[in-house]
Amino acid sequence: MTTASRLKSVDFYRKIPRDLTEASLSGAGLSIVAALAMVFLFGMELNEYLSVTTTTSVIVDKSSDGDFLRIDFNFSFPALSCEFASVDVSDVLGTNRLNLTKTVRKFSIDPNLRPTGHEFQPGPATNVIKHDEKVDEESLEGAFVFTSDNFDKYAHQFPITAVNFYAPWCYWSQRLRPSWEKAAKIIRERHDPEMDGRIFMGKVDCTQEGDLCRRHHIQGYPSIRIFRKGSDIRSDHGHHEHESYYGDRDTDSLVKTMENLVASLPSESQKLALEDKLNVENAKRAAPSAGGCRIEGYVRVKKVPGNLIVSARSDTHSFDASQMNMSHVVHHLSFGRKLTPRAMSDLKRLIPYIGNSHDRLNGLSFINSHDLGANITMEHYLQIVKTEVITRKDYQLVEEYEYTAHSSVAHSLHIPVARFHLELSPMQVLITEQQKSFSHFITNVCAIIGGVFTVCISDTVALYFYQYTKLWLYTCTIHYLFPCGFR
Ligand SMILES: *[C@@H]1O[C@H](CO)[C@@H](O)[C@H](O)[C@H]1NC(C)=O
Ligand SMILES: *[C@@H]1O[C@H](CO)[C@@H](O)[C@H](O)[C@H]1NC(C)=O
Ligand SMILES: *[C@@H]1O[C@H](CO)[C@@H](O)[C@H](O)[C@H]1NC(C)=O
Ligand SMILES: *[C@@H]1O[C@H](CO)[C@@H](O)[C@H](O)[C@H]1NC(C)=O
Repeated sequence: MTTASRLKSVDFYRKIPRDLTEASLSGAGLSIVAALAMVFLFGMELNEYLSVTTTTSVIVDKSSDGDFLRIDFNFSFPALSCEFASVDVSDVLGTNRLNLTKTVRKFSIDPNLRPTGHEFQPGPATNVIKHDEKVDEESLEGAFVFTSDNFDKYAHQFPITAVNFYAPWCYWSQRLRPSWEKAAKIIRERHDPEMDGRIFMGKVDCTQEGDLCRRHHIQGYPSIRIFRKGSDIRSDHGHHEHESYYGDRDTDSLVKTMENLVASLPSESQKLALEDKLNVENAKRAAPSAGGCRIEGYVRVKKVPGNLIVSARSDTHSFDASQMNMSHVVHHLSFGRKLTPRAMSDLKRLIPYIGNSHDRLNGLSFINSHDLGANITMEHYLQIVKTEVITRKDYQLVEEYEYTAHSSVAHSLHIPVARFHLELSPMQVLITEQQKSFSHFITNVCAIIGGVFTVCISDTVALYFYQYTKLWLYTCTIHYLFPCGFR
């Protein structure tokens, strides 16, 4: 045998002479069915290859020490004045940041939660407010006592009425009292209400005249308000604000302020030193005209259990815990960096549960109703879980935070607050988008084509194969059974 014919003997693909093949109708039918089956199976396989699968695993949070969590919020407090509202952050590691102002904006709002003006400006930080050093024990009674019955009458009668809203139990009111009485006496001597009739100083005891104080949105004691012709609403570019005094509380400063107010009246020709005027103008600032406040902004906190607290706070005012109303509406609360809407919808298509907790608290109101009683603190307990998604596109890492919220009200021993207790889960969810292997796809396609072709191959060839295979098997068997040669 020549080498060529030997080689030929190992040919798997023996050719049948073309004359021996014959196209049959049944064969054609079978071929069409086979082609359809192939196309169908190939389509399924391609779809499977192109579709996206994800694997989800729960692992220990990989955040390192020093990573911060950003909290975006937007709350409305219909019964907490921006004058006193303070946002504080504390955590178990001892961080305690009070009265955040840099990243937090405040807007005065009316009871319908609509803003009444532009952003609330707290004014320049006041250092320690001066009070009279020595307190006269002999009780001076210089200031007129207003009640709800006579308030409107007197306030309307005078071009300027300065009113000290106070509470007798309050420490700061007690310290203000002597200087206020003395100043009132001096002013009354200089500007006799009967003769001069331009200025009038009085006081309102808020423990007696609760309604009157509520009507003027008095939340901290003492509040000094300036009324002009019965109204303390100052129109400023179409926005309304109370005129309020935040300056020093010693007799001299008070008298100076009052003289200044008188001097600012149009009919007055009296002149005051310029620097005095500036000093006094600085101390006189606008207080919000409505009793509510919208607080929006963001804070960055360490990833440890902590609190975000909104409360009333002031260095020179006292608050009546039983009158505080920390009702609030959560417009928005979210954690982590905000995703663009497109990235968000992409992600949502991939993992439907992402972003569902975004409106867990959003839009909910927490109202302190009358039947709950006094000293009500509003608590929210939030548990936050980090979700990381590694997408196939650029192997991008997307961070997302989901949370659960439980809310309750509690009677507090201290000043009522609205507290958001934050707790970050030590476990995180890792979602990885799976890349399908191309070689796997190709193998599957070959299997489909080959398999279908083999099953449905034209009957002639099948017959040939059948005969050939049988022959081959037969030969093998003989060789195996009779290795000694049976030729
Ligand atoms: C906060 O919520 C109010 C009320 O829904 C909305 O008018 C305001 O634009 C929000 N502020 C921000 C910064 O989104
Ligand atoms: C918060 O801080 C600002 C600026 O430091 C200050 O003007 C304001 O009075 C403070 N507010 C409270 C409620 O303490
Ligand atoms: C607290 O304020 C809310 C909203 O203004 C009001 O509906 C509620 O009655 C107030 N609660 C009390 C105890 O005054
Ligand atoms: C509310 O708190 C104050 C002290 O902050 C306390 O004196 C008062 O008894 C409390 N009232 C109630 C009803 O618990």
